[in-house]
Amino acid sequence: MRVAAYERYGPPEVVGMIERPDPIPGAGEVRMRVHAVSVGASDSAARSGTPWFARLAFGLRAPRKAVLGSDFAGVVDAIGPGVTRFAVGDRVFGATGAASGAHAELLVVAESSAIVPLPGAVGMADAAAICDGALTALPFLRDGGHVGVGDRVLVNGASGSVGAAAVLLAKHLGAEVTAVCGPAHVELVSGLGADRVVDRTREDVTRGDAMFDVFFDAVGKTTFVRARRILAPGGVYLTTVPSWAIMFQQLTSRLGRRRAVIMFTGLRKDADKVPDLEYLAALAATGALRPPIEREVPLEQVADGYRLVDAGHKAGSVILRPVPENVEAADAATEPESTHAASARPETRAGA
Ligand SMILES: NC(=O)c1ccc[n+]([C@@H]2O[C@H](COP(=O)([O-])OP(=O)(O)OC[C@H]3O[C@@H](n4cnc5c(N)ncnc54)[C@H](OP(=O)(O)O)[C@@H]3O)[C@@H](O)[C@H]2O)c1
Repeated sequence: MRVAAYERYGPPEVVGMIERPDPIPGAGEVRMRVHAVSVGASDSAARSGTPWFARLAFGLRAPRKAVLGSDFAGVVDAIGPGVTRFAVGDRVFGATGAASGAHAELLVVAESSAIVPLPGAVGMADAAAICDGALTALPFLRDGGHVGVGDRVLVNGASGSVGAAAVLLAKHLGAEVTAVCGPAHVELVSGLGADRVVDRTREDVTRGDAMFDVFFDAVGKTTFVRARRILAPGGVYLTTVPSWAIMFQQLTSRLGRRRAVIMFTGLRKDADKVPDLEYLAALAATGALRPPIEREVPLEQVADGYRLVDAGHKAGSVILRPVPENVEAADAATEPESTHAASARPETRAGA
């Protein structure tokens, strides 16, 4: 199989294509052909090794994991002994989290990991984009902001992967949504259903009169100190980006009437991600969750994908396409002996 790999931290060009032996699923493991996988902000941070403290997680001198990529969608093409949740031919999507490894044609994960069946109505690229954005936005809004019907929610960075998903999900939860983005994305964000869209280059919402119950800074470009002015009593400021300030404010604001919250959704247990993925899959199948996709690129153009992410202004997700969707189940002749095909179903292709 081909994988996109890197050996040293650096610009997008450090990632290149290499050949590796096809992985063989062991007991309790499933193997997928990867049809779509996002190149996200965390992949970019791991590739560049920035900020410096990220190297504590990714590897001090050189990256520990050569293959990045977490948020994927694909088709099960082999299963190991004892697998009961999935069968060959199943369409699935999920997230490998810190284990990464999905920028590849084939991916092996435990069947107990964060993967769930993908409804036929949801396209592969859409599914990978949902993992990239909505799997983060959902716990922020639901668990951090307790967003409900009638809540006034502001989403800053509303055109990014997490922000766009937050607009869609907050509307679904019944909130009144104000979305803030740059001038190039006003039309796109309006199309997501936001009640009001603010061009951040024309208006600073933190200086306005409108008050909010939840201020979700999906890109971490504001501060709690600025946001607090427009938070209603009992309101919550949520941010995706860690800083010493927000860690301190999270502790101290617990005593106040306006709270600051930082969450690390990628570090949640797989068992907690599975019901969220099922919820998001069901929502996507209704058509209520179709996140924007900036561009789809073949796996070998992974560096182009990283350039789009690094530029900092992508609309929604950048999606790699390691295996074209018209590739049928892996040839029986190339199946590893330790895998078995419990059933074979043709993939239902839905437009991405
Ligand atoms: N804490 C967690 O659990 C967690 C989980 C996942 C991701 N994250 C973090 O969340 C952040 C967002 O991720 P993402 O994938 O949504 O990023 P993204 O898609 O790369 O965000 C791109 C968006 O950022 C907007 N943007 C750029 N500069 C801005 C500014 N000065 N003010 C407001 N918006 C600005 C751009 O909008 P315009 O071009 O329209 O301005 C663009 O659409 C990343 O830092 C990521 O590492 C955290």
